[in-house]
Amino acid sequence: MKRAEPAASPLRDAVLAQLLGGLMAAALIYLAWPRLWDIPLAAAAVQGACAALAAYKLESPPWWIAIHLLFVPLVVAAGTLSIAPAWYLAAFVVSLLVFWRTDKSRVPLYLTNATAAAAVAGLLPSRPCHVLDVGCGDGGLLRQLARARPDCEFVGVEHAPLPWLLARLRTLRLPNVTIRYGDFWSQHLGLFDVVYAFLSPAPMPMLWQKAVEEMNPGGLLVSNSFPVPDVEAERTASVDDRRATRLYVYRLGK
Ligand SMILES: C[S@@+](CC[C@H](N)C(=O)[O-])C[C@H]1O[C@@H](n2cnc3c(N)ncnc32)[C@H](O)[C@@H]1O
Repeated sequence: MKRAEPAASPLRDAVLAQLLGGLMAAALIYLAWPRLWDIPLAAAAVQGACAALAAYKLESPPWWIAIHLLFVPLVVAAGTLSIAPAWYLAAFVVSLLVFWRTDKSRVPLYLTNATAAAAVAGLLPSRPCHVLDVGCGDGGLLRQLARARPDCEFVGVEHAPLPWLLARLRTLRLPNVTIRYGDFWSQHLGLFDVVYAFLSPAPMPMLWQKAVEEMNPGGLLVSNSFPVPDVEAERTASVDDRRATRLYVYRLGK
């Protein structure tokens, strides 16, 4: 079976939109409002508007347009504050350790809440089973599941260093949880009866293909919030939480 390609990184378009925005703004200010160079925040606002326009033309998602609109103006505004540069570096390093290669994976960090985790526990087979959380974040979900089902074995794979470390620490005392550092795409799914995913729309087609290729008939793929496009779920469970979470349950081999 031909493997689906991962979604392309949005970074190329982001850099392009910023460069085009800078060029357009420079030309506009040079030709129409040369005095704007004396007001850096106003010049930055023009660059932001031009970069947002470029992103719109490049058909970037709406949140990228908002980011382009604000990016350079916020950089210029932050430059006027007397904050030691080391704080910016520290904030960058912490963000990097938490979000890691979100540009590549297209999956940021957000966590399954306790009510949804209880609903996931209710979906597990009644017999002892093996469960994998692909991208386990801080391990909170696995910790709750492992306590609810001491008869089952739980594995979490996480590639972002800080959430991985937290997950390791939070599950140290639970003998039925293993947290692995790495890329879940390298984890064979055939060892698991249930694979849980709380990712984003981007990887769902490829995850489904991997599940079909590797999971045993009867295995369950449970996706929090993001359905597999063009595949009908065996069932969907509505969770009574604030965000009205939906769990999509797919049975393999049907
Ligand atoms: C939305 S969070 C969900 C966390 C946890 N499963 C939960 O439900 O609370 C998705 C996690 O997947 C991780 N992730 C994304 N792509 C990954 C990959 N290819 N390999 C390992 N982890 C990945 C992210 O770093 C993030 O921590």
